[in-house]
Amino acid sequence: MKNNIDKYNAWAYQYDNNINPTRDLDKTVIKESLSNLDFFKVLELGCGSGKNTEWLISKADKLVGLDFSKNMLALARKKITSKKVTFINANINEKWPVDNNTFDLATINLTLEHIEILDHIFNSLFMKLVQGGKCFVCELHPKKQLAGSRAKFEENGTDIVLDVFQHSEQEYIQSAEKAGFNLLVKEDWYDNEKDIPRLISFLFEKPK
Ligand SMILES: C[S@@+](CC[C@H](N)C(=O)[O-])C[C@H]1O[C@@H](n2cnc3c(N)ncnc32)[C@H](O)[C@@H]1O
Repeated sequence: MKNNIDKYNAWAYQYDNNINPTRDLDKTVIKESLSNLDFFKVLELGCGSGKNTEWLISKADKLVGLDFSKNMLALARKKITSKKVTFINANINEKWPVDNNTFDLATINLTLEHIEILDHIFNSLFMKLVQGGKCFVCELHPKKQLAGSRAKFEENGTDIVLDVFQHSEQEYIQSAEKAGFNLLVKEDWYDNEKDIPRLISFLFEKPK
């Protein structure tokens, strides 16, 4: 297996069903973080199998999901047939096939750890969002990464480890602020308060 696209295509067969506390906590975090926010047009980066899409379209009128794994997208398309949703096969390290000044919310969950250069992502997000638009990011916590946690799955008894990059809390914030965003909220999320936090989330806003 050579690259993350191949690995995600393989992981897709079990992504929704294997034991994965990070995926499960993220599903709770996005609801807790965005339940009180009104949003209508959503851009979901690294939408994967559509785990969070289902909840997002219970609130939104329109959602575009971008992902570079065709098998993840196949799962998402099978799960979500709503006409409100368009899934597009795209690499978010490249130019995104969506219009500028269109979305009032962008979400990125458990995906930026696979992205080396954050500046391209936040600069592109800034262009795609309308003024006052929000950007929600939820990732494996940098402290958890430093403690050795990596995105991985098991195939035929072998651990397949995804290629990941370490981004500090400050790096996320500085890259977003450099693009023009303001930080509204930053939170650490725990399995158990005594543990290292599992996830970190940020809510950024494009100024009105
Ligand atoms: C751990 S999964 C998370 C999926 C979903 N956001 C969730 O929370 O369940 C990461 C997703 O990011 C996608 N991904 C990783 N790097 C990407 C890239 N450069 N361009 C597009 N998608 C990417 C993978 O294919 C995968 O579906």
